Amino acid sequence: MKTLDDLLGEGVSGRRVLVRADLNVPFDKNEAGKISDDGRIRAVLPTLITLRDAGARVIVCSHLGRPKGAPDPKYTLGPVATRLGELLGNPVVFAEDTVGPSAKAAADALTDGQVLLLENLRFNAGETSKDDAERGAFADELATLADFYVDDAFGAVHRKHASVYDVAARLPQYAGGLVLKEVEVLRKVTETPEQPYVVVLGGSKVSDKLAVIQALLPKVDKLLVGGGMCFTFLKAQGHEVGKSLLEAEMIDTCADLLAQAAGRIVLPVDVVAATAFDAGAEHDVVRAEAIPADRLGLDIGPESVALFAEAIGSAKTVFWNGPMGVFELAPFAAGTRGVAEAITKIDGFSVVGGGDSAAAVRTLGIDESGFGHISTGGGASLEYLEGKTLPGILALES
Ligand code: 3PG
Ligand code: MG
Repeated sequence: MKTLDDLLGEGVSGRRVLVRADLNVPFDKNEAGKISDDGRIRAVLPTLITLRDAGARVIVCSHLGRPKGAPDPKYTLGPVATRLGELLGNPVVFAEDTVGPSAKAAADALTDGQVLLLENLRFNAGETSKDDAERGAFADELATLADFYVDDAFGAVHRKHASVYDVAARLPQYAGGLVLKEVEVLRKVTETPEQPYVVVLGGSKVSDKLAVIQALLPKVDKLLVGGGMCFTFLKAQGHEVGKSLLEAEMIDTCADLLAQAAGRIVLPVDVVAATAFDAGAEHDVVRAEAIPADRLGLDIGPESVALFAEAIGSAKTVFWNGPMGVFELAPFAAGTRGVAEAITKIDGFSVVGGGDSAAAVRTLGIDESGFGHISTGGGASLEYLEGKTLPGILALES
């Protein structure tokens, strides 16, 4: 895999470099255009600054959300361009399309050391198309904008998309520092995790995490399960879960996993059960095996936090993906906070995997320096741990 250093060695001053970044940041639900966590923008700054300072004409591209292959103002990267400019200390030029007249004119007008952000890649059907020719045609257009391609979008390397996969075959390709760092860390926890190895999984769906659970189960000492997905496991143990999130079709699978794990899958013993999915809803801590029929679990309870913290405390390696509860609502944030704080205290190496968990850490104001590594990739880091081939990495290697 060629790196940014290799590219600098070839000389980038005055040359146009297309940088694929993952600027898919979360926005404040109550204030349009307000970025609630700019961690992914910050994560790519070193690459952009390196290129800018070397005199490159930097063309940044990214997706945001999941628009349906056509322009949709709801998903404009405009606010991201503004924030990126603030962080770089210089305004960023923003193109109103991705490969259209605005992008072409802006790319042509770039001066050495200037940074341009293209509009959302997913405003173009070719970006995510399953059809190789359609993706290829869009990649052709992207490639005409630049002389070199740098992929620093770790969060998107699991997507076989035009800007991640196909464009790398059309321009000399290089891995950015963020991609290199992420891969190095994930390789370490995948291939040589120091034992005891504890994995903490949360988030809403078992089905999203099934492959990673299957891949990790043989390797871990303990797998702690919280978040919405724990209720399907509790149900598989024969407990009623009231109105909590449940994936009925996954109950048998969870029962099999529990049998296979022979005690190494640890479930909450208490949960915060509320009358509704609402910060103002009536809520109490109840036993995990006695969730009232008219309540839904929205967080793990304090005894579970203590139980999880104890397992985490004895670990030499911890990988964490997925919040323990609805941390965005204050009454249901304590589980995620408690687990995150326990992870910061270990005498070992910890990795926070995932856009959501990383955002939770920052939103809850937990000291980021307490973690070994905070990944910018959710799906990407999970797929790496599953042992899958990641199209974006493959494209950089070939
Ligand atoms: C993410 O948020 O996981 C990445 O930005 C990828 O986004 P996607 O799941 O919409 O492809
Ligand atoms: Mg994703």
